[in-house]
Amino acid sequence: MCRPARADKRRIAVNFSRAAKTYDYAAVLQDRVAARAMLGLPADWLPDCVLDLGSGTGSQTTLLAEHYPQATVLGMDLAIGMASHARSSYPELNWCSGDIEHLPFKSNALDVVFSSLAIQWCDLSRVLEEVYDVLKPGGVFVFSTLAAGTMHELKQAWSSVDRHVHVNTFDAFSTQKHCVQQSGFQLHSFKLQTETVFYLTAMQLLRDMKALGVNTVPSRQNGLMSRQRIFKFQQAYEMFRTDKGLPLSYEVIYGILRKPQR
Ligand SMILES: C[S@@+](CC[C@H](N)C(=O)[O-])C[C@H]1O[C@@H](n2cnc3c(N)ncnc32)[C@H](O)[C@@H]1O
Repeated sequence: MCRPARADKRRIAVNFSRAAKTYDYAAVLQDRVAARAMLGLPADWLPDCVLDLGSGTGSQTTLLAEHYPQATVLGMDLAIGMASHARSSYPELNWCSGDIEHLPFKSNALDVVFSSLAIQWCDLSRVLEEVYDVLKPGGVFVFSTLAAGTMHELKQAWSSVDRHVHVNTFDAFSTQKHCVQQSGFQLHSFKLQTETVFYLTAMQLLRDMKALGVNTVPSRQNGLMSRQRIFKFQQAYEMFRTDKGLPLSYEVIYGILRKPQR
């Protein structure tokens, strides 16, 4: 059985809603990952209905709509602030708010479900059950998600400052693969790739994390975070500096699954 992701959905929704206006400018790695994930979209057929799960500001959903101009494309996000930002940026597409673990769609209704960097906060086995149910037989689930080891530099730098949990933990690649193998989907591709983004300073990194809605400083500490602790964090992060700057690594899983034809 897959371990449920320990996620506080309310906190996730609030953080992402707050980040709706700042997300796009900081989403360098997220754009790169989504572009790579989209390479897995089926090119040899014309789907009628395409769903983007955890669609955020909608910038990837609009690329899906360009990819499948004939299809009805719908973006769904847990954060109401994200869904309404997407609706005002791209009124020509369809938007709703909802939870990936409780999809508000009929069974066998969709041809393609896409999701980039959203399902890592969910119980993967639950996500797979839900997506399997809403896809038509022969439908495809194309996604990216995160595995253990993601942001290890950030985790390590904070561990020299305090014992708080600043970075989410993600299941190992092998655990997630096992979960997918149990799901009933046909596994077309399931790969792990390290993606790294570089920052000039540790402060820039923290600012970008916040702009993305990934708050690595617990809220109860925000106001109290002393200069000394921030200085200690910056010093600790400097140990990772390379010629390109301060690295932040993401262990990204790219998956392509197909629901078997009946
Ligand atoms: C890192 S952003 C990615 C957004 C977009 N897919 C992209 O690639 O730019 C993750 C998004 O997933 C959404 N999300 C997280 N958990 C969710 C859930 N259980 N159901 C629906 N959306 C969720 C967040 O609100 C956020 O907008």
